[in-house]
Amino acid sequence: MTSYPVNEFGPLMKGLVIGGVGILHVFLAQFAIGGGVLLFAMERRAQRGDADARRFVDGYFKILVLVSFVLGALTGVAMWFTTIQVGARTIGLMIDEFHWLWATEWVWFSLEVVAGYAFYRFGPTLSDRARIRLLGLYAVSSWMSLFWINGILSWQLTPGRWLEGAGMWAGFFNPSFFPSLLFRTAVALTLAGLVSCVIINTMDLDRARKQALISRAAKFATPIALMPLLALWFLAVIPADSRAWLLGGSMPMLMFVGVAAGASTLIGGYVIVGLVVKRLYINAATALLLLALAFGATAAGEFVREGARKPYTVRGVLYSTSITPAEVAGLRARGAVVDDPYPLRDQHRYPNDQLVRGAKVFRSLCDACHTMAGANGVQHLVATWTDDQLRLNIAKLQRTKGFMPPFAGNAEDVEAIVQLLKWERARAPAIWPMTTPPAQVQTWLDEAGIHPAPPLEAP
Ligand code: HEC
Repeated sequence: MTSYPVNEFGPLMKGLVIGGVGILHVFLAQFAIGGGVLLFAMERRAQRGDADARRFVDGYFKILVLVSFVLGALTGVAMWFTTIQVGARTIGLMIDEFHWLWATEWVWFSLEVVAGYAFYRFGPTLSDRARIRLLGLYAVSSWMSLFWINGILSWQLTPGRWLEGAGMWAGFFNPSFFPSLLFRTAVALTLAGLVSCVIINTMDLDRARKQALISRAAKFATPIALMPLLALWFLAVIPADSRAWLLGGSMPMLMFVGVAAGASTLIGGYVIVGLVVKRLYINAATALLLLALAFGATAAGEFVREGARKPYTVRGVLYSTSITPAEVAGLRARGAVVDDPYPLRDQHRYPNDQLVRGAKVFRSLCDACHTMAGANGVQHLVATWTDDQLRLNIAKLQRTKGFMPPFAGNAEDVEAIVQLLKWERARAPAIWPMTTPPAQVQTWLDEAGIHPAPPLEAP
């Protein structure tokens, strides 16, 4: 087993760091994709003689797409930068498995950037034919980059028959491939429709002409009506235990599902009833408000998707701790951190070797999902627990909460974490006794076993 150097982010949990960058990236990237399709359609209108549509394409939307794809690309690089610091082994596995598909995705993405930039730079001087082709290329290539990346990301949650050795394509076209591809496509179009409503409001046109453009742009947001169906489809194909958490097994997850569904319903209602059926006017402030709601829904949705994968980063293959299920037995025997070559950043803080060990065990087994006292801080979670309660719940980690992996260390490691938690709770005194684990700890480890918790049945 290879140990990679890890980085710590203080009170920010690793998952939050990735999540934060990821949500921004997904939002911008999806908007860039929808924007491409919308621009293409507006350009077609423009070429049939709609002068306002042409102004829209040339003067305004173009700049916004540029912003979205420059920022989209930058946050994409930021994703690589953070994921290699946080989940090097996961990324390694993904690259091993999907190397050429990832390269393919990159080629489409490059095309998207080149086509977008070419349109930005030369659009106004080009012939109609060249314009529509360039925009078509931009729209197709941006959607294609979604197509490829979607297969790799959805594989993480539902590797499907790939787990039985069915090969790369089975992993790529996995059970959640189509529901998430269509879902993201619908979101992309909706975002583009909403952004256009903001942009159109900033154009120097009278209200009736703005109104006409808005009605056209709003049609792009109508796929939001399909979202409940697509979400149900997605729910139907994910593993039963993940589904059970989303539907009540985990309160935070249920709330986020609720937030995503509620916000999408509000946006959908406004778009379908207000903009499309009643042809209402929407001003920039309202459009921005809807966009902010959409950002909230995206954030909640991504949180749910990432959360549903716990305790894995690649379901059934790699735990969030970058340990494989097959390695747990060995780590139980040898100890969690015997192979960890990296020193602690703050080793001098700890008054004895057991606490140093505890901090290392915490770093390797817990800090993918917890901090000590910040986000999802274990200090808060165990604030009232007694010593044996700590030992029992940590030794039987996967039974304490099904979204944690089995404890991948020995009885000394459990005891070291327990002492660390108690020492932190006591506000890090300068002197702290060393302890040996009570015999029960081994019994509890054995009882919990080395396998993940059995799947929860849906309520
Ligand atoms: C895959 C992610 C993950 C890993 C790894 C993980 N946890 Fe957790 N843990 C969670 C989540 C999510 C919760 C639920 C938090 C909540 O209920 O607010 C949780 C809850 C807990 C709780 C509270 C349980 C309860 O019933 O109140 C404790 C204690 C805890 N974890 C300790 C640990 C320790 C110690 C480690 C390392 C040995 C660890 N966890 C590793 C995700 C993880």
